[in-house]
Amino acid sequence: MMSRPRFVLALFLAVCGSLYPQTSVPSPASSHQPWWRNAVTYEVYPRSFADSNNDGIGDLNGIASKLDYLEALGVDAIWITPCFPSPQKDFGYDVSDYTSIDPMYGTLADFDNLVQQARRRHIRVLMDFVLNHTSDQNPWFLDSRSSRTSARRNWYIWRNGKGPGQPPNNWISDFGGSAWTWDAKTRQYYYHYFEAAQPDLNWRNPAVEKAMFDVARFWYNRGVAGFRLDAVDTLFEDRKLHNNPYVNGEMVNKYNDNLPQNHVVLRRLRSLSDGYGAVLLGETWTDNIGQLKQYYGGHDDEIQLPMDFMFATVNTLSAPKFRHQIDSIESSGEWPVFVITNHDMERSYNRYGDGVHNDQIAKLMAALYLTLRGTAVMYYGEEIGMRNNDPTRLQDVLDPLGRMDWPKNKGRDGERTPMQWSAAPNAGFTAGKPWLPIPASYSTYNVATELRDPGSILNFYKALLRLRQENPAFAGGNYLDCDPSDPNILCFLRSYGDRSALVALNLSNRPQPLSLDLSRYEWGAGKVSVLLTTMPQPPTDLRHAVLDPFAVVILQCQGSPSASPPASASSAPPPLQEHAHFASTAAEARLPPS
Ligand code: GLC
Ligand code: CA
Repeated sequence: MMSRPRFVLALFLAVCGSLYPQTSVPSPASSHQPWWRNAVTYEVYPRSFADSNNDGIGDLNGIASKLDYLEALGVDAIWITPCFPSPQKDFGYDVSDYTSIDPMYGTLADFDNLVQQARRRHIRVLMDFVLNHTSDQNPWFLDSRSSRTSARRNWYIWRNGKGPGQPPNNWISDFGGSAWTWDAKTRQYYYHYFEAAQPDLNWRNPAVEKAMFDVARFWYNRGVAGFRLDAVDTLFEDRKLHNNPYVNGEMVNKYNDNLPQNHVVLRRLRSLSDGYGAVLLGETWTDNIGQLKQYYGGHDDEIQLPMDFMFATVNTLSAPKFRHQIDSIESSGEWPVFVITNHDMERSYNRYGDGVHNDQIAKLMAALYLTLRGTAVMYYGEEIGMRNNDPTRLQDVLDPLGRMDWPKNKGRDGERTPMQWSAAPNAGFTAGKPWLPIPASYSTYNVATELRDPGSILNFYKALLRLRQENPAFAGGNYLDCDPSDPNILCFLRSYGDRSALVALNLSNRPQPLSLDLSRYEWGAGKVSVLLTTMPQPPTDLRHAVLDPFAVVILQCQGSPSASPPASASSAPPPLQEHAHFASTAAEARLPPS
């Protein structure tokens, strides 16, 4: 029943390609699909994106100054992790005021400007909604802890201990130690799923729901297009506070995680959000597809975009393992949401890299999750091959998780380092002292240098995002696995009407044969053209092809498959995405010359 990763026990266990210009294709016909269906959302960690005032910490004006970059990259939305006033005990996930901007990041006027500037570039802004807990410095909590009879006492979860020095039950915080902290003044314990500085709100109290829903309205009225919902699985706790069981020596959060009441709140939040045409993106850690399915709601009435962390944490380049995750979300009937890394995970460059072909593998992973049917969520810097820069000494660690479990768990600082903009000092992020150190690799892995190199990871991402936007097979196509038994190559078709694209990915470090019988399909070998590849000599005769180690080959095929698809294939093509008020700006090729 455990659904989110236990940070304490394991914080996630921790060559040059040639590009081919895309044949231009007509824009897909309009439909009634919401904007987010095929969108790419880009996660911005505001402390680390761009520093406009040189205090070493990124800020909102810094983000605004990089919108041209994001537009040219081809993203549809940005999700900004918490930039609200906060003591920064958990770097913003401890909110002390939900309807303001922390001065270190700017002002509400800067925020409004950012939304406006982003809109001009057809980029929507999503905020991070920390629903489960506040900061212990939030006035709500200060009032709550002031006395047992304070107006907001019941906004948080206060209980008597079992006896002197004994918390109410055995629950363990995700950040280590008991999930209960003793308050000497009022002589009760308060509950916190995370850090002691992050007391859990009491969602059984209607006043809490009202206050938090007012927060959502506040941001929707300022033009926010939706929220990423933080830690949605932890909103409710068992009323009777039963002790959690242990399985194989590890506590299972049976009574404080994934309770059915979470879904009641999510349905109400969805209904509120629908009134604003907003989208909800969920931090939905799940163990199986059944759990993930629940977050969509039985009637598409909960989270539109629950992130699939089972896909995100495959953590090994295994075609069968990725295929299994793709098949399970495809056959669930729900809309997939793919992500490979974020601010809580070791960067994908490290997790999938073999130390020799890391750049090639970074392109392979990008091609995998950005060509599948579904919504995609990127993490800043993955598009330039940013790697972890983990601290080597305890005294340098800033993340509370890293300090707590050092050196077993080095914490999350390593994946949160400043964006690498150029080869200038501090990677062009700041003229001050960056809040986290930048890895030496920035001198070649940076935006300015990579933009000039046609074979860079960055130009590969740009080409992929352009394919998604412009090619109807990617914008609206079905997913069909061409060979469910291949142990090394993932090969799938995206088909929309008579537009089809074939994606072949070699997940192994050896050349691998590919033998596809195209007579199964309507098109002939002569009608196949290359859309994008990392192979200098890409195969076009797929009956007798050999894919280079970690190769990406994306082909365009005329005609749609005529053969009956395998059982796992999705049924009718979904209608295409509407770009009506975000008209496509990508008429001319943005690909570098081949
Ligand atoms: C989520 C955030 C993480 C944070 C935690 C507590 O998991 O992504 O960064 O530490 O919630 O708010
Ligand atoms: Ca700053």
